[in-house]
Amino acid sequence: MAEARRRTTRRAPRVLVLRGGTVVDEGGARRADVVVREGRIDAVGPDLGVPGGATVLEADGCLVTPGFVDLHCHLRQPGGETAETVVSASRAAVLGGFTAVVAMPNTEPAIDQASVVREVQALAEDALCEVAVAGAITVGRAGERLAPLGEMAALGVRLFTDDGRGVQDGGVLRRALDYARGLGVTLAEHCEDEAIAGAGLMHEGVWSSRLGLPGRPAAAEEAMVARDLALLRATGGRLHLLHLSSAGSFRLVAAAKAEGLAVTAEVTPHHLALTDACLADFDPVWKVHPPLRGGADVAAAREACASGLVDALATDHAPHPPEAKEVPLDEAAPGMLGLQTAWPVALAALHDGVAPPVGLGGEPDPGSPRVDLVRLVGLLSWQPARIAGLVPEEGGTQGGPIVPGAAANLAVLDPACRWRLEAGALASLSRNSPWLGATLTGRVRHTVVAGEPVVVGGEAQR
Ligand code: DOR
Repeated sequence: MAEARRRTTRRAPRVLVLRGGTVVDEGGARRADVVVREGRIDAVGPDLGVPGGATVLEADGCLVTPGFVDLHCHLRQPGGETAETVVSASRAAVLGGFTAVVAMPNTEPAIDQASVVREVQALAEDALCEVAVAGAITVGRAGERLAPLGEMAALGVRLFTDDGRGVQDGGVLRRALDYARGLGVTLAEHCEDEAIAGAGLMHEGVWSSRLGLPGRPAAAEEAMVARDLALLRATGGRLHLLHLSSAGSFRLVAAAKAEGLAVTAEVTPHHLALTDACLADFDPVWKVHPPLRGGADVAAAREACASGLVDALATDHAPHPPEAKEVPLDEAAPGMLGLQTAWPVALAALHDGVAPPVGLGGEPDPGSPRVDLVRLVGLLSWQPARIAGLVPEEGGTQGGPIVPGAAANLAVLDPACRWRLEAGALASLSRNSPWLGATLTGRVRHTVVAGEPVVVGGEAQR
């Protein structure tokens, strides 16, 4: 990573000015210019003027924020290069305002030992943003034998998960929690009990009955959340719950937090924006794990974001090639793209209160909770940065605050720009976004990584 930082910094202009925006960080919002010098923030304040030779990026009408941090993103390398690469995903990431992403280990082979961690870290040297690597909890993500978490932690891995699956055997997870506590790292669980989920293709509810499709009940998620929280209580340590989607899960997390357990939770933009009704056309683009839920679950997820119960939004960006996605629903791989649409989709769902399906016909719903912009940016930036261990207090450079001396990992977000997502604008090698062709409100104007403007005016610069 040190090498990656050196490379990007070398491409940075000597002086960069982000002019005329509203700076938003954990300290709140204020009108200010931001001057960046050699990769670091040099000055923050109103009407700073432009030093000679500076590159100027206009931020009028925009929020200037710490770059987003995605805790949950599938980069598909090694092994899945037809779907995505570390570099192509990093380009999608910066177009989405992300300056750091966490690469999930469900690759081929899985990232379950030091050699594969090193391989992905080497690929990340060419990425447009910081790429932190997550390691698998079990060998081959098979859920049986613990992976060598210690040797991966020694390479800087802070988050371990078998994502794509949860650890099905509670005894294995218990030992993993013990091991992780000793190492000071966090386990992240994909909560779905496979015996309960069965061969379900969508959320089990009114729509699965109507469509005659086998369902994956919310109980599959809730049973594993409850089990994992019970184990966490017994072992101590830290647990992060990936892509929670059901009202029952949020109730369980609320009780666990009230009790003082060290648990954090994330929600995806798509679980805030879409419902199981989308499956009515049987299009596999809607198929994700956990599945899109019913309206009451979406409302509970939004409420959990608004109340502060949910710690982070995470994309679960899951690229799949046409041969895996454009097939009958029962054969299709689960997952959808998320990096380039996270900001407008989250903005619509949580700030503007647009009813599902967001961006696809949903209208503002006066009953939907409204999350203010500072809180919304926090859910995408400093809160996930803290969970990933990428914040300055831990030696990282992500999540702000925007103050002199800090590394310049920044996003410039236009909350009002309306734009249409065209296939040609996707940086991902895959096309499985449900928002293709949709008109969205909210666009990433510029992204700055280690002082380098990697996105300018909505266009990637390399
Ligand atoms: O829908 C999903 N797709 N959920 C996951 O947990 C894994 C992901 C993938 O890797 O495609």
